[in-house]
Amino acid sequence: MKVLIADKLSETTVSALKALGGEVAVNPDLNADDLPAAIGDSDILVVRSTKVSSKTIEAAKNLSLIIRAGAGVNTIDISSANTRGIYVSNCPGKNTDAVAELAIGLMIAADRRIANATADLRESRWKKKEYGKARGLKGRTLGIIGFGAIGKSVAKHAQSLDMNVAVWSRSLTSATAEEYGVAHIPNLAILAGQSDVVSIHLAYNKETHHLINKSFLEAMKDGAIFVNTSRGEVVDTAALKEAIRTKQLRVGTDVFENEPAGGEDTFADTELAGMITATPHIGASTDQASEAIADEVVRIVRSFAETGVPLHTVNIRARSSATQSLVVRHYNRVGVLAGVLDKLRNSGINVEEMTNIIFETSKAACCTLLLDAAPSKQILDQMSHDGNIIEVALKPLA
Ligand code: 3PG
Repeated sequence: MKVLIADKLSETTVSALKALGGEVAVNPDLNADDLPAAIGDSDILVVRSTKVSSKTIEAAKNLSLIIRAGAGVNTIDISSANTRGIYVSNCPGKNTDAVAELAIGLMIAADRRIANATADLRESRWKKKEYGKARGLKGRTLGIIGFGAIGKSVAKHAQSLDMNVAVWSRSLTSATAEEYGVAHIPNLAILAGQSDVVSIHLAYNKETHHLINKSFLEAMKDGAIFVNTSRGEVVDTAALKEAIRTKQLRVGTDVFENEPAGGEDTFADTELAGMITATPHIGASTDQASEAIADEVVRIVRSFAETGVPLHTVNIRARSSATQSLVVRHYNRVGVLAGVLDKLRNSGINVEEMTNIIFETSKAACCTLLLDAAPSKQILDQMSHDGNIIEVALKPLA
């Protein structure tokens, strides 16, 4: 098992992967352009910020698993991985606390204009009069957009600051809202209009691209705080700049549209940086989160080595297009399943999914095949009369 780590991971992680029998290569300097030439015959690719393009996936000879050492998978060309049958796994929930802490930090920093005050003091300017104008967070309403693990953690921290929390999320139920003590606001514009602070906690995908647009920002209160620690592309940057100018929004953001992928680079949008409190996508970058993620990478590789199926896959189809389930209880002997598959192939029936469970003593097994069509009675009779098959049962899937 060859593992290529194309980002920085701790020595302990590398040793743990080697202990699993892996031949581990570490090259933290690889970027998206170098990766196609570097991937070679690696079985597993581990990346953090490094983008994995279709070129890398097509160039890979043996790749079966890509692990994103983080939560968001928008840096990986998942549709190419799907086409080649390559698993993509992530490390969900491991940087929740780190990102939530930064979101709260950015809220306070935006309210108190900590970055501007620091910059002035560094230039010997004491401007107490100017920076002594903050609204404070206590008693204000925080509108959270997206209520996964990070959104929930931010809600908890905000409640400890005595903020009222309102949430918009597609999947939020009244029961969950009640459990977390938050108000459920099913309409984004209403949430924008009610909130003194808005914080974004959504994954980036086609549906969330520029979800925060001109009309959302126009619906926000003048002088409200806007925080983004999710993905830059969720927000229309041009509309955000306009809202900062016209509505005096106070903004704290850790993520940017088209931000650099690496650890060191130049940042192009200095106009935006001059208008906001900003950090270079460091939400997940705490020791606590890095250690938890590194441990999870090892757990994913271990699950893959032991079972052939990795933990936390993000690209497995929830349900195949199978319409029939064929259960074949059979003696655990060579060629029994090959005979079943042969009969299905000759009938033009496709096997969409298949599992074979072996019982203790290894004498018998039960194979479940999910098929795209029902085999004829004649085929089923032939299978039943095979001396190696104990029983055959066909059921339409609900
Ligand atoms: C994530 O998706 O895990 C976070 O946004 C952190 O991303 P990073 O690993 O590139 O810092």
